[in-house]
Amino acid sequence: MSFSSFLTDTRQRVERVLDSYLPADNSPAPELHAAMRYSLLGGGKRVRATLTYATANMIDCNLATVDPTAAAVEIIHAYSLIHDDLPAMDDDDLRRGKPSCHIAFGEATAVLAGDALQSLAFETLTHPCADLSGDQRCEMVAELAIAIGAAGMAAGQTIDLAASQLGLDLNALEQMHRLKTGALIQASCRLAAIAGGADKNTHQALDAYSANLGLCFQICDDILDVTASTDQLGKPSGSDDGRQMPTYVTLLGLNGAHAAAEHCSELALDSLTQFGPEADLLRELVKYQQQRTH
Ligand code: IPE
Ligand code: IPE
Ligand code: MG
Ligand code: MG
Ligand code: MG
Repeated sequence: MSFSSFLTDTRQRVERVLDSYLPADNSPAPELHAAMRYSLLGGGKRVRATLTYATANMIDCNLATVDPTAAAVEIIHAYSLIHDDLPAMDDDDLRRGKPSCHIAFGEATAVLAGDALQSLAFETLTHPCADLSGDQRCEMVAELAIAIGAAGMAAGQTIDLAASQLGLDLNALEQMHRLKTGALIQASCRLAAIAGGADKNTHQALDAYSANLGLCFQICDDILDVTASTDQLGKPSGSDDGRQMPTYVTLLGLNGAHAAAEHCSELALDSLTQFGPEADLLRELVKYQQQRTH
């Protein structure tokens, strides 16, 4: 199957799954429900879900087995974007081509929609599934919790908030990127590897692959913040500059940032050398992410 049809199929697939997992319209707080739907559906490249499905595909795991996983990582991502855009954080008023959640629904509802989405993601992982043992599901919950918590995404976002005041050298910037963005991308791959019962060697290779993909993803996000327009991005271009954020572009220049992204891409591909054509979708995903324009 070509990568582009895989991308189209998995995007449609996760969109359907997400829609089915959202709380019903008659929930006791319709405003909260509306804000969750608004931020979760109908936008986004769905890179994290695609990574989950591509990993499952590589290790011969049924895509249906990882539907809840693909949904969970996209739900966490949506929650992180709602909070990331808040005035207390990046203060960005546009997301996925629409007013940010707090602009559309107010700050308090946006905070709560993020909270409720985070809960929903973990609830999703507990859905009964004949293919997964209780131990597997428990391990997946733990891995996701670790990835987004005080030693993962939340730590990265905390470092990010202090970065414009403190300044960061390249090592600290790399660590921030690995945490704020890389950790969830790595979890998107690792959870599928757990669901598919991958052996230790495959786990290690996939961990190295996804860590490099995740770092590369945020370096490209830094680059696009400078090179792409607000229309193209569907979020405010120049947001990092507006906050005087240290980024790969401010530390290394545009050419240096491109070279760093290229280096990470090569490392990601190198991690897959032991695999044959079964890893081609994961290889294509590296190219896709590096060439993306939004
Ligand atoms: C944006 O992520 C935030 C980062 C972690 C860089 P994406 O570029 O994946 O955003 P969507 O999901 O496509 O909107
Ligand atoms: C976002 O990084 C990371 C998380 C949401 C965890 P950015 O602040 O660079 O993402 P964008 O550019 O707003 O999408
Ligand atoms: Mg941010
Ligand atoms: Mg931001
Ligand atoms: Mg950014």
